[in-house]
Amino acid sequence: MDALGPEGVFEERGRLYTLSVCPRKRVYGERLISSGGQEYREWDPRRSKLSAYLTVGGRDVPFERDSVILYLGASSGTTASHVADIARDGKVVCVEFAPRMFRELVKNCEGRPQMMPVLGDATKPEEYSMFAEGVDIVYQDVAQKRQADIICDNMDHYGAEWGMVAVKARSEDVTERPERIFEEAAARIKTRGYRIVDSRELGPYEKDHAMIVFKRP
Ligand SMILES: C[S@@+](CC[C@H](N)C(=O)[O-])C[C@H]1O[C@@H](n2cnc3c(N)ncnc32)[C@H](O)[C@@H]1O
Repeated sequence: MDALGPEGVFEERGRLYTLSVCPRKRVYGERLISSGGQEYREWDPRRSKLSAYLTVGGRDVPFERDSVILYLGASSGTTASHVADIARDGKVVCVEFAPRMFRELVKNCEGRPQMMPVLGDATKPEEYSMFAEGVDIVYQDVAQKRQADIICDNMDHYGAEWGMVAVKARSEDVTERPERIFEEAAARIKTRGYRIVDSRELGPYEKDHAMIVFKRP
């Protein structure tokens, strides 16, 4: 098992892994492998946009072992569980607004004390202030309109240093070229006062999606 570069991400024979904080527990049927007396979970780029970003060559992942991460659009916790493996001494506040997904999320947070499930709406950052103190990084994957503004509103509200947003072009405008939507999202983030660090498309793993990484200037 080799370190890929970004904190807590490993690679073996072209597949990505995180070191499990909760051995023997699968979150989404992922493969578990033992190496050097420790258990690693395979991180599938077809099931996670963050894994897709790493797989297509993205390396600007700001998570540290002790980061506090506000994760918007956690769904059942597939990607958030890998983020919790990385930020094993930190905290991942997982916001999800669909009750059915939230119930799955609560189950998947069991055994992972770093993950805190919050039923809330990402467009209303003040709703979950009591759970999200000292946020370092906002990660967002909400697949709805105004994706750039929603993450910037949260960055502003929590004073976070870093932002990472998975932009789904079809959620903004199905008639526009995806490249144009990604450019518009990056331009909007700059207008809101942040500096773009990386922007790359996630195909072939996630069609018509891009990851934009940005930070305070
Ligand atoms: C593409 S899925 C997220 C997948 C997840 N990030 C992963 O990789 O495992 C998008 C999720 O965002 C949620 N969502 C959409 N708009 C939201 C909002 N305003 N607040 C909170 N969650 C939202 C949806 O219910 C859905 O579960």
